[in-house]
Amino acid sequence: MARKTGTPDTAGVNSDLMPSLLITGASQILTLRGGSPRRGRSLSALGIERDGAILVRKGRIAAIGKRTDIGKQEGAKRAEQLDVGGRVVLPGFVDSHTHLIHAASRAEEFELKIQGASYEEIARKGGGILNSVAKLRAATSDALKSRARIALEQFAASGTTTIEAKSGYGLDLPSELRILQIQRELSEEQPMEIVSTFLGAHVVAPEFRSQPNGAERYLELLLEHMLPEVVNRGLAEFCDVFCERGAFTREQSRRILSEAKLHGLQPRIHAEQLSRTGASQMAVELGAASCDHLEQVNAEDIRALGKSRTVATLMPGCDFYLGFKEYAPARALIDSGAIVALATDYNPGTSPTVSMPMILSIACTQLRMTPAEAIAAATLNAAYALRRDKTLGSLETGKQADLAVFEVEDYREIPYYFGMQRCWMTMKSGEIIYMRD
Ligand code: NIG
Ligand code: FE
Repeated sequence: MARKTGTPDTAGVNSDLMPSLLITGASQILTLRGGSPRRGRSLSALGIERDGAILVRKGRIAAIGKRTDIGKQEGAKRAEQLDVGGRVVLPGFVDSHTHLIHAASRAEEFELKIQGASYEEIARKGGGILNSVAKLRAATSDALKSRARIALEQFAASGTTTIEAKSGYGLDLPSELRILQIQRELSEEQPMEIVSTFLGAHVVAPEFRSQPNGAERYLELLLEHMLPEVVNRGLAEFCDVFCERGAFTREQSRRILSEAKLHGLQPRIHAEQLSRTGASQMAVELGAASCDHLEQVNAEDIRALGKSRTVATLMPGCDFYLGFKEYAPARALIDSGAIVALATDYNPGTSPTVSMPMILSIACTQLRMTPAEAIAAATLNAAYALRRDKTLGSLETGKQADLAVFEVEDYREIPYYFGMQRCWMTMKSGEIIYMRD
């Protein structure tokens, strides 16, 4: 990907030097105009423009609408022209839940799972997250960075323009800071927008596990040293907790997220994935930005999410990869009015994919979301999950020119094809960050 050259105005691209660009020739432009977040029926309103055009100036959308109208806009005649040849244009995907920085795959566990071992059995034997923690601590920062750079290029090649990224495979002060520092450095050197989350509460760190009161003592380290240091260095915007059997209880999670809020970090949480802990209602009470996973939610949880501003982020890649038959109840969540988003959960243990199109395919076939709902959930509602819906997630005048062009004639073909590379071009703040040869 191209390196950034400057101004902070549009995610670092030196957009003053970039000529205006007029994008035409799309069979459909999915604008997603009409406000956010999207609940219920409004989730399927894609605001499709058929003979449309987009004028991009200084990294932002200067005008969007009918080609005949946009052609008359000041600067449109002098702009560079990009005809996308009958393809579909949509907002770049916003992947609101990833574990970007990790040292290696866990292919050895993949094989154990196929032979019948469960995710939790592997974790109890010191595999799982602890396996990734050992690998990360032993890795150099250069190695971690190179691996992440490759993933970032693959995100861009799948149509993604913004990702959230969590720490959580370090679990001691220097390693957690190292992960977040790498995320900051990557943000400065390449165009993908990275939103950082502190996940020191992924599991209790290995060196505390055999100690009496180990979990409590780890929480002390986390609350008294890690969290304040992350905040002092301005390394994260959100704080996350893995609330689950074998990780953190609901009350521990409440303590961590309440403290994070006092420090100015917005809470988000891994909730009701393998077991129901009550984390989602607790997160709603705390005003968390999102509750992620939600396979095990009950009717009351669904009602609470339906009335809240806490986004219900579904990550069906995990269930697909872990071979589960049951997925999160997307239809009930949408019907209750919950703000449903989709994310990859890119991580080495439960969802080794960066492909938002693949997540859309699973959301359609397994969660029974319509293609339109899945696209809105992966763009505008996901931007809302990162509290960036004022600048990202739809193609509207004034927003960042973050978009993806897919090699299809009809948007429904985006989830219809699965496991295939149909992304033709990706643009971040007006800069082409991926183009198929
Ligand atoms: O979102 N659940 C916690 N985090 C990841 C799994 C991490 C891992 O297994 O390494 C998840 O599924
Ligand atoms: Fe996760």
